[in-house]
Amino acid sequence: MDIPQNIKVEAQKRIEPYDVEGFVIGKGDTESEVMIVGEAPGENEIVKGEPFIGRAGKELDKQLEILGLDRKHIYITSVVRSRPYYWTKSNKEGMRKANRKPTQKEIIAHAELLDYQIEQVAPKIIIALGNVAFKRLIGSEDKLSSVIGRVMETPVLKWRDEEGWVESEYFYKVIPLYHPAAVFYNPKIRPQLEQSLHEVKRYLDEKL
Ligand code: URA
Repeated sequence: MDIPQNIKVEAQKRIEPYDVEGFVIGKGDTESEVMIVGEAPGENEIVKGEPFIGRAGKELDKQLEILGLDRKHIYITSVVRSRPYYWTKSNKEGMRKANRKPTQKEIIAHAELLDYQIEQVAPKIIIALGNVAFKRLIGSEDKLSSVIGRVMETPVLKWRDEEGWVESEYFYKVIPLYHPAAVFYNPKIRPQLEQSLHEVKRYLDEKL
């Protein structure tokens, strides 16, 4: 997707003060009715400049298969486009960077970029992968596990420097799902995750 230079430059400038690296725009079909919003790229993604190509990406592919979706026919992006990291002790020697969740300031730094992509793609359905994406999009305080796979007809939040978060004029069908990496940390969610994927698949089959 071509992002207007001013939006791109501004996003890069606003994220600069924080411990992040790289910049991944997003990938896929900009005409798609389905958009997937993740959290932030990891170390593999920032090298190739593509979303979800690491371990979480392989898991995402498996989940997309259950949903009957193909990466080529959807648009994939994330809340923050740079990899948030912190320094930790390496197993070998010295220090290494590890992923962390983006902060609210980092989310705001890249908000205008995601707002722009949502407006451009104008998807009918937005799949929010994980809590960060879900909260960013609809500001809900609901626990993710209690709303997983539910279709919510709702405006999404967009950022205005003067006003803060405001609701979009248009409504979207927002569907929260677990972030693909969540099963690595908590394999017990697999049955609930798969059940929700099958329910969402039935919904997509009807609507697309
Ligand atoms: N997690 C995300 O949210 N996005 C990626 O691209 C990779 C992992």
